[in-house]
Amino acid sequence: MANVVVVGAQWGDEGKGKIVDWLSERADVIARFQGGHNAGHTLVIDGQVYKLNALPSGVVRGGKLSVIGNGVVLDPWHLVSEIAKIREQGVEISPETLMVAENTPLILPLHGELDRAREEAAAKGTKIGTTGRGIGPCYEDKVGRRAIRVADLADRATLEARVDRALTHHNALRAGLGLEPVDRDGLIAKLEEIAPEILQYAAPVWKVLTEKRKAGKRILFEGAQGSLLDIDFGTYPFVTSSNVIAGQAATGVGIGPGSIDFVLGIVKAYTTRVGEGPFPTELTDETGERLGERGREFGVVTGRKRRCGWFDAALVRQTCAVSGVNGIALTKLDVLDGFDTLKICVGYELDGERLDYLPTASDQQARCTPVYEEMPGWSESTEGARSWADLPANAIKYVRHIEELIDCPVALLSTSPEREDTILVTDPFED
Ligand code: IMP
Repeated sequence: MANVVVVGAQWGDEGKGKIVDWLSERADVIARFQGGHNAGHTLVIDGQVYKLNALPSGVVRGGKLSVIGNGVVLDPWHLVSEIAKIREQGVEISPETLMVAENTPLILPLHGELDRAREEAAAKGTKIGTTGRGIGPCYEDKVGRRAIRVADLADRATLEARVDRALTHHNALRAGLGLEPVDRDGLIAKLEEIAPEILQYAAPVWKVLTEKRKAGKRILFEGAQGSLLDIDFGTYPFVTSSNVIAGQAATGVGIGPGSIDFVLGIVKAYTTRVGEGPFPTELTDETGERLGERGREFGVVTGRKRRCGWFDAALVRQTCAVSGVNGIALTKLDVLDGFDTLKICVGYELDGERLDYLPTASDQQARCTPVYEEMPGWSESTEGARSWADLPANAIKYVRHIEELIDCPVALLSTSPEREDTILVTDPFED
């Protein structure tokens, strides 16, 4: 028996969808443990494209249990419409195949409004570039002990009391931002209307997972975003509002940390970022444009163009350490085909000093200049390679050097969006 956590080891969009799908075939339970519908996971199965935001990737495979854990923030209206869309594609979803933790906080329309109003009001240089989906404000309410949780939907009196508590805070805040106060009765009516749709999936997830573990079932923990967007270890304040790193898998569903057997970090062969914030290896020249075009780097949720740059080994070494990554899945190697020379960042220079990690202070992060090593590229295509023998020698050298620099082995190598175009070194479930 093995339980595997998948985390993004950069700024998200590392290509988790394909790897999670590949692993979910081997798993019995697939659980989301943080984030919300700010995530955009694209799965291609037998030519059908599925786009998921809140639902765990396991829903598209029959015979699996998909779980939304308490570490997630859930927009109930979005969930219902996502379920409807995915059902239209022929996928069956029922309370036997989908469970939502009863202690999951709900994203309300007021959270999205607050998220967008703050971004609009932000002074130059302070905008986060959020997805505008209310993720941050909902997590704030959770920690502020004024969130409405799934279980609260079951009882009218509790729901009213929770709404009143939340609105005392929010209406004061809204007044300061020039927003209208929230229509209390309208919000309660909306929540009551959606309640049965959500409550049918509500379950004590911690208990269900304990039983699954005892029965020897395999659990796949599906992370969203990436470790550099982690609320504690990311490039704060330009981060998302949840812990994204592997430790969150335990608290985000309610299992002990000892239940995690393998942490797989997903790493793109170069670097991208959506939204604002420091990005030491960013390329604003034609090489950056070329990476973006070859890698089709546009955000799934917002459609925004992603910023692109060279591989940053110093940052990935750091994120692999904080998540205890046992092996990485290296994705999109084929995007680097045809470059004469490739650069890899191995550390930074700050005020004349050499650092082997990115410092925490924002002003220092902004002043860090990358120290690069150069490697020869390759002209052959690596797209679709399914064994090491299919790869040019320089591509193998690039991968091996990355392993050395980040101090973590490659478990999987992905060479195209097709699921079969994967070189397997270590099966995380069998390790
Ligand atoms: P929020 O999660 O909407 O609050 O956005 C905070 C930051 O995280 C912004 O820079 C977003 O672009 C980024 N972000 C959130 N979700 C994702 C994701 O799934 N992939 C990549 N970036 C994301």
